[in-house]
Amino acid sequence: MVVEHDEDTMRAADHILDLGPGAGVHGGEIVAQGTWKEIGKNNASATARLLGSPIRHPSRGQRRPVRKSDPWLKIRGARIRTIRNLDLDLPLHRLNAFSGVSGSGKSTLLHEILLPAASGRKPRERLWKSVAGAETIDRVVEVDQSPIGKTPRSTVATYLGLMDELRTLYAALPEARQAGFTASHFSHNAGPGRCPACDGAGTVRIQMNFLPPADVRCEECGGHRWKQEILSVRYREKSIHDALHLSAEQAAEFFSAQPRLATPCRLLAETGLGYLQLGQTSPTLSGGEAQRLKLVTELAAAQISADQARARGRARRPAHHLFLLEEPTVGLHLADVRRLIDLLHRLVDAGHTVVVIEHHLDVLAEADHLLDLGPESGEAGGRIVTQGTPEHVAACPASRTAPFLRSHLTRSAKP
Ligand SMILES: Nc1ncnc2c1ncn2[C@@H]1O[C@H](COP(=O)(O)OP(=O)(O)O)[C@@H](O)[C@H]1O
Ligand SMILES: [Mg+2]
Ligand SMILES: [Zn+2]
Repeated sequence: MVVEHDEDTMRAADHILDLGPGAGVHGGEIVAQGTWKEIGKNNASATARLLGSPIRHPSRGQRRPVRKSDPWLKIRGARIRTIRNLDLDLPLHRLNAFSGVSGSGKSTLLHEILLPAASGRKPRERLWKSVAGAETIDRVVEVDQSPIGKTPRSTVATYLGLMDELRTLYAALPEARQAGFTASHFSHNAGPGRCPACDGAGTVRIQMNFLPPADVRCEECGGHRWKQEILSVRYREKSIHDALHLSAEQAAEFFSAQPRLATPCRLLAETGLGYLQLGQTSPTLSGGEAQRLKLVTELAAAQISADQARARGRARRPAHHLFLLEEPTVGLHLADVRRLIDLLHRLVDAGHTVVVIEHHLDVLAEADHLLDLGPESGEAGGRIVTQGTPEHVAACPASRTAPFLRSHLTRSAKP
């Protein structure tokens, strides 16, 4: 029994179980089962539909141009492990990808060279000779699939920064002002409004002999996190607890008059995470969900600050972050891969630079600039085999990636 998104694996299977039809509350059923051929005939299966209609690359009609005269990050004389005297040129404000066989040096180049060099860090040993072009990078952000919080105090809403907006909104309601409730009363992590029995966690941890501790629903507040008088304050007939039960999709609609709440929720919905509940606790998110939530948070921040600058009639240089992602498609369904690609494009559109290590051909084929490492692994790797557009890399005889990329580009070009 193999859980897998890879097409070749599915083709080889004797029997496939396809679950869905959607994600989260929209899933949980067996949508189709049988051989690859039988699944393919089933219209209800998103898997079959997507595999039957590959992405045409580039998905947006054209790639961003990569020109000598545009800003580049240039690292000279990088050396560590199998990487010896390598010059790395990265076009900024573009979608960059690193490809290459396992052990070719992709992670080493990203973590040991690019990350510290772009952060303006002085290396302890001489890991590189010089760096140019890093001055315009405000922040280097690694976005991985690690959990975004380990306690039930961390939720989708706290991570997105929505809790502060919600607290302000509720504290400004007439009922709250009359009762003397301030924003701090509407916090579930601190302050006088939270349930005293569970300190606002909604659950209490029970220690049991010989067994791992268990989190059970708080009896005092019934898992509602707040004192009763706080919950009686309502915005459009919903308490703050009810609001946290809305999905992002519903919240975008419900709070449409509050852009700082609605914008992040709308972005979540647009990137396929509309089904997440605002109050869903962080430890329950899958790795892929956590990673996309991190990216949406960055995108929302960029959008909100751009909106504010526009409202004030001020043209401000947008923040420039360098996003580093390592194999972000691991564990993602094809539908999610497409959303991830769209999210990466939108970060670049917002003025950022993205560098992604990938094996997934749909991501490699979407890059503005692709850098192929190798040619082999270990001591036989650590060099740049070729770089340029995906088409350029696909035509390189020395690249191990090229034959796969070539047939992928040809397949996706068919109408
Ligand atoms: N911490 C380490 N110490 C020594 N060698 C390492 C270390 N990490 C990776 N390597 C070696 O460096 C080479 C490149 O590895 P890596 O950068 O992880 O490749 P990739 O990410 O392309 O799979 C491989 O030969 C690997 O065995
Ligand atoms: Mg690696
Ligand atoms: Zn409680």
